[in-house]
Amino acid sequence: MSPFFSFILPTLFLSFLISTHPINGQNLINRTCKTIARGDPNIGYNFCTTSLQAAPASQCASLRGLGIISIRLVRYNVTDTRCHIKHLMKHRKIDPYSKLYLKDCFELFSNAISSVKLAMKYYNSKRYDDANIQISGVMDATTTCEDGFSEREGLVSPLTKRNRNTFELAAVVLSIMQEIQKGSNV
Ligand SMILES: *[C@@H]1O[C@H](CO)[C@@H](O)[C@H](O)[C@H]1NC(C)=O
Ligand SMILES: *[C@@H]1O[C@H](CO)[C@@H](O)[C@H](O)[C@H]1NC(C)=O
Repeated sequence: MSPFFSFILPTLFLSFLISTHPINGQNLINRTCKTIARGDPNIGYNFCTTSLQAAPASQCASLRGLGIISIRLVRYNVTDTRCHIKHLMKHRKIDPYSKLYLKDCFELFSNAISSVKLAMKYYNSKRYDDANIQISGVMDATTTCEDGFSEREGLVSPLTKRNRNTFELAAVVLSIMQEIQKGSNV
């Protein structure tokens, strides 16, 4: 074999391997996010890929695995926000009305933590409709929390960004479950 061929053939073979890489890892994250972002205006492609990529072991996950990962992300988010609200309520500078709404949010997020845990349990036993109800409940919690602050003129929610993140992550969970139920290979 000429030196040319001994170089070019393995290279061609390698690039063939790379281009036909199984629908896994990064590729699966991208494809999943593309599909679900197209199907739900609440989901941004970049938000979806960035969130899933950052999660441990997501590169090797199947679609079902990505579902578990996204439920975990919701759980971390909700848990962290609840803790953040607790800190905010202790701040003396927060006005009394905001404190009232923060107290509501604290309860909403406390319940949301239970909902995510239940959702994970249902997901693990493939009860996707039941998991859907729990995750939808988490989404409602974020909007109810956020809407409270807008009831009173002049109040600004200190949780807007967090509520949006949690809402969007939860939307990702719902869409992934839909794809699984459709039997989609994304
Ligand atoms: C997935 O998308 C990211 C950007 O969102 C890009 O950097 C990466 O190359 C893509 N990977 C694959 C395998 O398509
Ligand atoms: C909540 O989710 C968003 C979007 O993935 C992420 O940027 C943020 O770091 C998360 N927060 C926690 C505490 O996990």
